[in-house]
Amino acid sequence: MDKNSELEGLKAEMQKDPKLPLGTNLVFGEGNPECEVLFIGEAPGATEDEMIRPFVGRAGQLLRKSLRDIGWQEKDVYITNIVKRRPPENRDPLPEEIESYKPYLTRQVDIIAPKIIVPLGRFAMNYFLPLAKITRDQGKIFKSGNYFILPMLHPAAALRGTGAMRMYEETFRKLPSALEKAKGTGEKVPIAEAPKKVEDVQRKLF
Ligand code: URA
Repeated sequence: MDKNSELEGLKAEMQKDPKLPLGTNLVFGEGNPECEVLFIGEAPGATEDEMIRPFVGRAGQLLRKSLRDIGWQEKDVYITNIVKRRPPENRDPLPEEIESYKPYLTRQVDIIAPKIIVPLGRFAMNYFLPLAKITRDQGKIFKSGNYFILPMLHPAAALRGTGAMRMYEETFRKLPSALEKAKGTGEKVPIAEAPKKVEDVQRKLF
């Protein structure tokens, strides 16, 4: 089965799953299933729920412009969220909501099997790197299982201040070279070590 059909099958399963929380539209994701770069946000907002497409509101416009600014096209990447229905009043997704959607996101990621995953913001980053801190660790390249991970600030955070915007843009500009490195065609990539619990580090030291 090709990736498109596998993703359609997964989406149909999600639509029928009565255990999945939040009653709004299922915003499954969009883009090229054969992509090398997969962007993962937090959860759809009002515009995304209305249009049943990820990242089409203000933050989404910035994300899509940033892609064009580095010479990439939206149709070449894939964009989705960890939680695929809009939380009420755009509140943060709850841990139990993230948990409920997790098995589906894992399968979606493994069907697409990108070279690099770009988690946007702390919720998506902590999904792959539970102990990472967004301002400290955004812009570093990590390895988690089969995937290279390059966390970035969420575009909504970038829109809130010039410092954050600068950080977001700087990391975005790193993407083409990070992808080359992940494909093994660039320079050897310095992989940041996934942050560990203090107790783990202490256990090693003593
Ligand atoms: N913010 C997100 O995290 N995801 C979207 O799809 C839109 C805004």
